[in-house]
Amino acid sequence: MAPVIVRIKLSFPIILLACVAFTSTPAQALFSSKTKTDEEAGAVLFRDKGCAYCHGIAGMGGKKAPALTDIRKDKAWTPAKMTDQILNGGQKMPFFRESLSDEEIAQLVAYLRSKNKPIPPPSTSSATPPPPAN
Ligand code: HEC
Repeated sequence: MAPVIVRIKLSFPIILLACVAFTSTPAQALFSSKTKTDEEAGAVLFRDKGCAYCHGIAGMGGKKAPALTDIRKDKAWTPAKMTDQILNGGQKMPFFRESLSDEEIAQLVAYLRSKNKPIPPPSTSSATPPPPAN
């Protein structure tokens, strides 16, 4: 009886390690890839939904509104507070609760919180046609 218990005790950490090793990698990859697509979608929304009009390209700041580039470091600006600002606007900022879905707002918040802000791909509604292919 005793040797069996010893064997179970010994193998337990190994099984645990194996579980962690097998589950952590794909789960992490899935998580970070989702976050990354959210950030990229947020970058496009930021440019196309009018945020950049006041906050500047990539949120660098402008005459109409403050820079948002360092907001991720500001502990006072929790994701919930950012969501509230976008939903309801502020003193001079218009509200977006009617023009953005919850998902789009979540993507914008992901973008504002991202460390290396993704650059949105060129707009498809661009006035300049793509160069002809030869
Ligand atoms: C008409 C100009 C305008 C537009 C468009 C605009 N904002 Fe703002 N935003 C402001 C101003 C001005 C402030 C400063 C606080 C206030 O007046 O509400 C602000 C503040 C913020 C803040 C809080 C940062 C701070 O330090 O106060 C966030 C986050 C934000 N805007 C995100 C966005 C996002 C995301 C969009 C696009 C969906 C957007 N804003 C569109 C003008 C604008």
